[in-house]
Amino acid sequence: MSPIAEQVEALEFADVRPDVRLDIYRGEEWITSFANDVRRGLSASPRFLPPKYFYDAKGSELFDQICELPEYYPTRTEESILAARGADIVDTAGASALVELGSGSSLKTEHLLRPLLASLGEALYVPIEFSESAVREASVRLVGEYPGLRVHGVIGDFEKHLGGLPQADGRLFAFLGGTIGNFIPDEMLFFLKRMAFLAEPNDSLLVGIDLVKDKNELEAAYNDSAGVTAEFNKNVLSSINTSLGGNFDLDAWEHVAFFDEQNQWIEMRLRSTRNQVVRVAAIDLTLDFVAGEEIRTEISRKFTRDGFVSALEEAGLDLRDWYTDADERFALALATPASV
Ligand code: SAH
Ligand code: AVI
Repeated sequence: MSPIAEQVEALEFADVRPDVRLDIYRGEEWITSFANDVRRGLSASPRFLPPKYFYDAKGSELFDQICELPEYYPTRTEESILAARGADIVDTAGASALVELGSGSSLKTEHLLRPLLASLGEALYVPIEFSESAVREASVRLVGEYPGLRVHGVIGDFEKHLGGLPQADGRLFAFLGGTIGNFIPDEMLFFLKRMAFLAEPNDSLLVGIDLVKDKNELEAAYNDSAGVTAEFNKNVLSSINTSLGGNFDLDAWEHVAFFDEQNQWIEMRLRSTRNQVVRVAAIDLTLDFVAGEEIRTEISRKFTRDGFVSALEEAGLDLRDWYTDADERFALALATPASV
């Protein structure tokens, strides 16, 4: 669909729901970026793929299933912190609008929206997310559930489409789930610097981060017994097959996830189970894999408070408050632009 057709569709949607507006940036430009990233990553040594391409409709659904797994503690731990402290966070931030990066199904978000609406009577929510279906479903659910809420969704890339966001005095930018840990360290610093640059003096940034803990507990969360994480991991190959004319045989790849203690991150890889040749027709790419060869598909960083606060400071952000659970498994850092 061309970007113009998508805009028309967005307007039609807005006609039906005047309290929901959607700006759609995920058009042809997105396929070009996907193609370029696949060529670059799969031609590199060692090979890698950026994790943002997990999240087509199937991948988003698989991620929602991961959040329900007994081994995957981050979602329910972060939710418990938000349920207990959401009102304090909104109050400390002095928030008047909520912008959420990588909002997914926007479920935990309700612990921030409820206190925001309770104190102001009306509020603006701006989810920025790749998954159009996730934003559409969440928007309709939220405006139906919360009178006074307006949604201005941005279907696009939070690494590219943060300029031109709606203004409000005191925006709370929320980046939940530990997604910031999926950036490699340089990318994370660049992202935080950009947030510091874009933030107005009364804006704040709330970041969910997973904390360093026992290696067995960490590894279990990424090697679940039901095999959902393995399916999620392989879904990136399926996405290449569907969108770029690839012919990856998903049965010829196995899921690998381990805690790299030196880097303090979980690394997910896909390992070729045999010698194989793969074609990605849309970008005229032919790839030779030997048995045992791996593609890095994701890192998921685990932080200490000191390590994360140093990164905030390096980026020009000050820690305002720190919220964690009783067992210190997960944390939410509230930061503001450093005063000059
Ligand atoms: N915040 C939710 C979802 C986390 S999963 C939670 O805490 O449960 C990560 C989400 O970020 C996915 O929905 C994915 O589609 C989205 N995402 C990842 N990279 C993105 C990017 N660069 N731009 C926009 N959305 C992105
Ligand atoms: C979205 N992100 C924070 C998840 C994580 O834990 O790094 C993605 C994920 N990968 C495997 N399981 C979940």
